Amino acid sequence: MKSFVLSSIPFVAAALFAGAAQAENALLPGNAANGKALHAANCTGCHDSSVYIRKSRRVNSVEGLIGQVNGCNKQLSKNFNRDQINDLVLHLNESYYKFK
Ligand code: HEC
Repeated sequence: MKSFVLSSIPFVAAALFAGAAQAENALLPGNAANGKALHAANCTGCHDSSVYIRKSRRVNSVEGLIGQVNGCNKQLSKNFNRDQINDLVLHLNESYYKFK
């Protein structure tokens, strides 16, 4: 009985990990590495990344983050498409906001 319990621990850990990864993907689609590159090339003209981590930051939810990225996108003349917006949002969330 004892050996059964021990040998099932890695299985349970793997199942939990897979569940967490899936939940993250379900929340936000996109490619964070691509978002990071897009951000570095296009998004640091008006503000740097310190606005994402300041105490008084304006964005307090995933919905707010998506709205703000869309708003800043409108001010740029790049017209990023939906996939690029998703990549940017995912990058900002993974690196700074960390909404679940
Ligand atoms: C034309 C200037 C401009 C550009 C370019 C720009 N932004 Fe912004 N952004 C702003 C302004 C202005 C604010 C509001 C800053 C404040 O409230 O002090 C802001 C705020 C933000 C915030 C919210 C920060 C917070 O307080 O939580 C996010 C997220 C953001 N920008 C993302 C982006 C992204 C992603 C890009 C590139 C696609 C981008 N911005 C490019 C002007 C710009």
